[in-house]
Amino acid sequence: MANATLVFSLNWSRFVPMESLIKEVESVIENSSITNEKELENFRLELLSRKGKISELFEMFRQVAPEEKKKYGAKINQLKSLAETKFNALKENIGATKESDSGDQTDPSLPLRNLPAGSRHPLQIVLDEMQEIFIRAGFVVENGPEMEDDWHNFSALNFPEDHPARDMQDTFFIDEDFALRTHTSSVQVRSMEKGELPIRIIAPGRVYRNEAVSARANCFFHQVEGLYIDKDVSMADMKQLLLYFAHEFFGKDARIRLRPSYFPFTEPSAEMDVTCFLCNGKGCNVCKYTGWLEVMGCGMVDPAVLDACGIDSTTYSGYAFGIGVERIAMLKYDVKDLRTFFDNDVRFLSQFRSKD
Ligand code: PHE
Repeated sequence: MANATLVFSLNWSRFVPMESLIKEVESVIENSSITNEKELENFRLELLSRKGKISELFEMFRQVAPEEKKKYGAKINQLKSLAETKFNALKENIGATKESDSGDQTDPSLPLRNLPAGSRHPLQIVLDEMQEIFIRAGFVVENGPEMEDDWHNFSALNFPEDHPARDMQDTFFIDEDFALRTHTSSVQVRSMEKGELPIRIIAPGRVYRNEAVSARANCFFHQVEGLYIDKDVSMADMKQLLLYFAHEFFGKDARIRLRPSYFPFTEPSAEMDVTCFLCNGKGCNVCKYTGWLEVMGCGMVDPAVLDACGIDSTTYSGYAFGIGVERIAMLKYDVKDLRTFFDNDVRFLSQFRSKD
């Protein structure tokens, strides 16, 4: 190293050959093994920062004789880009490992976290339970439109032209021809019109009435109506089916009674009461100390209705019944205000769990 270019190194506190300084930095770049972010940062500080070795080389470079500048300048620039390339490559590598580290925290083989399960709406629970009971007795579920014409909702069901139920106060009319159905008896008419006998259907669904909304009444509610038509169907058959329903729904101790009533489409007509399931018929404030709760309307299908729907009333007879779902759900769950069912308050709804 006879003609070696000597520079004064602060680090070494003496004159050292420029060549040696370059070699040293080169070996630092090449030999540093870096596996984590901390080591990478040290690498950057030692080599690439303002006080790092490469800056120092550029500092030393100022002492190099002009005729040597080209040679050493190129060399130092090479070192700088070598250090930068290595730094960037390492940075990417470590970043990728870091990502895959955090990715590793997700174990795809783990079972799902418990998601909070939803619950069925209390009205749906009651409606499903009712449906299942009638399905076990051989009834099939029929659905129909919520928007009905006058014929299916009223006329075919023997409502006289001037019956108050047709009045604007009870019915939401859409136009001259259509209204929102006021009961699911309209589905029964549709099924009778098909002309396939015997008929043994239940028609669950939403119905609408133009009533002032209060704790006990709403402008819409839900019904399960039933219809059975065959040869020789008697009121005793109806009573037996409804007793079976009461036993299944309210419990084996339930008793029923039929009170005379009036509906345009049934003759005779009745209201069915069941012994109060809260006090077992002894009398409490829910049954107003009568021991009985009114649960549905029912009766023998009026021959005029059968004839209007194309069924020979001299050969066929049948019974029909209609249950209000909200009323039963209010009794069953001790809900005091009907509107609670439609508030969609999760605190209320999540209290209901169905059997299955
Ligand atoms: N359709 C009647 C109502 O909505 C209920 C009912 C159905 C009564 C069948 C008797 C027979 O009030």
